[in-house]
Amino acid sequence: LPSLGETAIVFCFLRQKSVGVALYIEQWPGKILQRAGDSLNISCYQNYSNLAYMFWYQQPPKKGLKLIVSSTSWRHNSYEHGYSEAKFEVTRESSFYALMTIKNLTSKDEATYFCAASER
Ligand SMILES: *[C@@H]1O[C@H](CO)[C@@H](O)[C@H](O)[C@H]1NC(C)=O
Ligand SMILES: *[C@@H]1O[C@H](CO)[C@@H](O)[C@H](O)[C@H]1NC(C)=O
Ligand SMILES: *[C@@H]1O[C@H](CO)[C@@H](O)[C@H](O)[C@H]1NC(C)=O
Repeated sequence: LPSLGETAIVFCFLRQKSVGVALYIEQWPGKILQRAGDSLNISCYQNYSNLAYMFWYQQPPKKGLKLIVSSTSWRHNSYEHGYSEAKFEVTRESSFYALMTIKNLTSKDEATYFCAASER
């Protein structure tokens, strides 16, 4: 990764594919560089409709994975302590697709973000 100034934030995340049988999950874009104060979108798609739950995780540099939010298509998103909808807005557009918008970026948002899907 490039070295970071006060206003540059690097986000990167892995593309994940072929988890389990007949399941395809992918998120994009792979890597983002954004300015402080901007917003950014991360998309996640999975094609196995029984996976009702989608999760977004954050991994700050050299730290462990932390769950941000879980979403289903039928009820409100459930945020973990320390994370808010005002900052991490998740739109579950269908059972296949979720969009997370991270707002008002600061250097504290520098992390790798992952999405995951599961049945419960
Ligand atoms: C999901 O997509 C993968 C890769 O394109 C494909 O092999 C699989 O059959 C698809 N599964 C469903 C349930 O559509
Ligand atoms: C994020 O996606 C939403 C919905 O598609 C769009 O309205 C918005 O402009 C996007 N924001 C950015 C920063 O790309
Ligand atoms: C964005 O975050 C900065 C630093 O936390 C804060 O001072 C500012 O009020 C925030 N702006 C908005 C529009 O939320």
